[in-house]
Amino acid sequence: MKLVVASRNPGKVTELRDLLQGNGWEVVGLADVGFDQEVTEDGYTFEANARKKARAVAKKVRTWTLADDSGLEVDALGGEPGVQSARYAGDNASDTDRMKKLLDRMIAVPDENRTARFRCVICLVDPKGRAHTFSGRCEGRIAHHARGHAGFGYDPVFIPDGNSKTFGELGLDVKRRLSHRARAMQKVVAYLRKQGKS
Ligand code: IMP
Repeated sequence: MKLVVASRNPGKVTELRDLLQGNGWEVVGLADVGFDQEVTEDGYTFEANARKKARAVAKKVRTWTLADDSGLEVDALGGEPGVQSARYAGDNASDTDRMKKLLDRMIAVPDENRTARFRCVICLVDPKGRAHTFSGRCEGRIAHHARGHAGFGYDPVFIPDGNSKTFGELGLDVKRRLSHRARAMQKVVAYLRKQGKS
């Protein structure tokens, strides 16, 4: 069965292809199916954005389609940056700009109130157009300064629970086990393996 991953990130497509190998799935990306429209992420929740992207692509390809949306929620900031994680410091800002804005806004927040989590929601649309959602989270806290260079986005300021180092310092192997995306993806893979075999 064919599964279209609604992402232009070849890393995401390859990762899913590896996970589903030998289970009857042909995993392809947007470029492989000639989908070149931009889908605006203007939903108020990760669920809404993942669903919107998956549905837009599924309408065209009419086969299994998967899309994800993710971001960081900081309790002391009422859940910000949340769905605005990618645009938190404006459209042309860098990861460094976004982390600086976050750290500046938290300058007076004591350790015990620096709790936060990464969240990921994956929406899978089946060939009948039914949407299935899977979610993953990774709890932790925000550091006082950016530390380490691994990963991307807010990784240098996020300390996952049970660690004293940031994701930026811990590196990708640790992140592959603990991340919000890995946890959501494990649920998707378990579901798709069952479908592929049936
Ligand atoms: P998207 O779901 O790939 O659009 O991610 C939205 C934004 O959330 C990214 O641009 C990052 O700023 C942030 N984000 C999502 N996942 C991660 C992560 O694993 N590490 C650090 N930042 C992340």
